[in-house]
Amino acid sequence: MIWKKLIFLLTTVFPEAFSFRSRKNSMLKSIVFSSQDDTVDKELLHKQLKAYWMCRGSTTTIPTRFNMCPQTFDGWGCWEATPGGTVANIPCSSITNTHNTNNATWWCTPKHQWAKKAGKYLGDYSACSMKIVTDKHADTLARILHQMAYLEESPYASTAVKHIFETCVNDVLMRSQPKELYCHGVFDGWGCWNITKAGEVAFQPCPSFVPGFSPDRLAYKFCQKDGSWFQHPVTNKTWSNYTTCVDREDLKFRQRINNLYIGGYSVSVVALILSLIIFFYFKSLRCTRVTIHKNLFISFVVNNIMWIIWYIEVVQRPQVVLENGPACQVLHVIVRYFLVCNYLWMFCEGLYLHTLLVVAFVAEKKIMTWFYVLGWGTPMILIIVYTAVRSYQSRDTNFCWIEDSHYEWILSGPVCISMLLNFVFLINIVRVLVTKLRAVNSTDSHQIRKAVRATLILIPLLGLHYFVTPFRPEPRSPGEAVYEPISAIVTSFQGLSVAILFCFFNGEVMNILRRFVRQHLNVYHFDTPVQL
Ligand SMILES: *[C@@H]1O[C@H](CO)[C@@H](O)[C@H](O)[C@H]1NC(C)=O
Ligand SMILES: *[C@@H]1O[C@H](CO)[C@@H](O)[C@H](O)[C@H]1NC(C)=O
Ligand SMILES: *[C@@H]1O[C@H](CO)[C@@H](O)[C@H](O)[C@H]1NC(C)=O
Ligand SMILES: *[C@@H]1O[C@H](CO)[C@@H](O)[C@H](O)[C@H]1NC(C)=O
Repeated sequence: MIWKKLIFLLTTVFPEAFSFRSRKNSMLKSIVFSSQDDTVDKELLHKQLKAYWMCRGSTTTIPTRFNMCPQTFDGWGCWEATPGGTVANIPCSSITNTHNTNNATWWCTPKHQWAKKAGKYLGDYSACSMKIVTDKHADTLARILHQMAYLEESPYASTAVKHIFETCVNDVLMRSQPKELYCHGVFDGWGCWNITKAGEVAFQPCPSFVPGFSPDRLAYKFCQKDGSWFQHPVTNKTWSNYTTCVDREDLKFRQRINNLYIGGYSVSVVALILSLIIFFYFKSLRCTRVTIHKNLFISFVVNNIMWIIWYIEVVQRPQVVLENGPACQVLHVIVRYFLVCNYLWMFCEGLYLHTLLVVAFVAEKKIMTWFYVLGWGTPMILIIVYTAVRSYQSRDTNFCWIEDSHYEWILSGPVCISMLLNFVFLINIVRVLVTKLRAVNSTDSHQIRKAVRATLILIPLLGLHYFVTPFRPEPRSPGEAVYEPISAIVTSFQGLSVAILFCFFNGEVMNILRRFVRQHLNVYHFDTPVQL
């Protein structure tokens, strides 16, 4: 499928991708205001966990310097980086369970460490008249926050993870944890692991929201004999084994398809650049039709180069896809833009031929202006709408936008319409040629006939994807082994086909090249001293 470039998987599952680095200023927490009771305030706990991630996610207005207390979350409030020897203030109203106009305060010592009070690492909330929480609540919060210090990404960042996390808090983390010979319940960023007996292995279906993972497989986590979770030998951090989630055979297959795309696009780029050199070098080739060719070829060259970058720099690098940086998102948009340009310039080819034959008079200058607007301007409008609509949906902007969105039709709709119109134009041209111009045997109509033939061959070739898309086999089905390579070849060699049909096999171009070669060979002969 042309829009859905395969989602390619994690090349290998590196441990670094799954153990979450601990933050430099890991936020230590302990809570006062406790009473002797054995309940956990569930609602408050969720609010506090959210506040923790808000705090971690907030960009501090004051950058941390060495002589400052670092930005921190003490279980209740988010404290900004504060210079040593001063008192920090936060409004009580920003704290989860109070409505009060006073401030909470925290003394940042001249040694730039937050002041401890009775051994607890906590701000002074005495002015805030806060609700009392139980020891159990405080312990539970401290335990969960301690685990979360190792997570790289907020569990609230995606709906799928948020749901798993909240369920995990309610069903596993909030419950009392057994003391000995059990590994405690833990949320590792993707999955929730229940308490597990020492020496046993816990299993978990692989998360379906991670690209390249098969949800029908199981990830596992090993609880060691001493009642602690297995730690990865490289990072020495608690580690769940998700490598089993990747289907390696499937991965190899996809990498081969990937290489097919890269190879095909590279060949196409070379052919297209050669054609462009020919078109620009030979002045005798200058005419409106060749100008349209040039634009078509340029859009193809840029698009194919972008695809190559996409396949090498994004698809083969799981880290890039997971990090989802702005560069890879921009690349997606550029690829899409030039893709739409390809199809619209193809449309201009058909439209021009149609105008030439069916409409009597053609103002070449004027028509080119319209073609520029159509070929470069229209895709710009479409892409702006597409980008705006898609970036508004947070679930559509994950993983470098590698997956199809619900708004694909904004681009594919106009493209399909332009292809259909093109087809209608060409059928009409053929009809005119057959009825009117059969008798006329000028070289002019001969040329046009050839151009029409080339365009007629190209349109189904470029449109093939849209016709076979509904028949795309399910991932990992036997049909995929046939479909994907063919799809890769047809897509990536489109540029080559365009170059061959519009340039290399074009009568005029062939004549000019023949003359050029003959001329230069002759010159060579005359210059060579004849030895007898
Ligand atoms: C709370 O702190 C702010 C500075 O952060 C200060 O301007 C304000 O007067 C304080 N409010 C009270 C009630 O102390
Ligand atoms: C976790 O394990 C405990 C004890 O084995 C069990 O009672 C509980 O139902 C489990 N929770 C979940 C969510 O599976
Ligand atoms: C992990 O622990 C081992 C042994 O305890 C130690 O030799 C190694 O340096 C540690 N690695 C890291 C990255 O801390
Ligand atoms: C993770 O699981 C795979 C498959 O069972 C295994 O080959 C690999 O050694 C495991 N990784 C670690 C670090 O234990």
